Amino acid sequence: MKTRFNLLLILAVFLTAQSCYYDNEEELYPSAGECDLTNVTYSVTIAPILAENCNSCHGGNFPQAGVVTDNYDDLKTVVDNGRFWGAINHEDGYSPMPQNLPKLPQCELDKIKTWIDNGAMND
Ligand code: HEC
Repeated sequence: MKTRFNLLLILAVFLTAQSCYYDNEEELYPSAGECDLTNVTYSVTIAPILAENCNSCHGGNFPQAGVVTDNYDDLKTVVDNGRFWGAINHEDGYSPMPQNLPKLPQCELDKIKTWIDNGAMND
């Protein structure tokens, strides 16, 4: 009799611990899976995305199509004439970028759009 009670107690403690674990996870990470569009800056947010996806073709001595994405001033030129957003957003009339690859993840596009809408600052 005593043994069975102990087993139930252990089971109850175990189940309680489990539900606490899941509750806490939700409280600790409320924005998990969402895209954080606060504090988007050129240096911290945008430049690393371009280094990862674009600069191999659009940097160095022979940038493809004369488009340069590895420094702010040259990037700003294609931002201002609309080719940058047109290309990465796969709009009609622009070569879709990155070349021969799917669009950048939606969150990265949203961050880039936010940066452009905020004035494409060198921040
Ligand atoms: C594998 C090499 C490669 C990668 C990676 C690449 N590009 Fe390009 N990009 C090209 C080539 C080649 C062209 C010229 C294509 C054409 O004119 O059809 C081009 C053209 C462009 C243009 C001009 C588009 C237009 O229609 O005026 C822009 C802007 C551009 N790329 C931006 C980017 C950005 C931003 C990235 C990263 C998200 C990127 N590219 C990644 C090779 C690349």
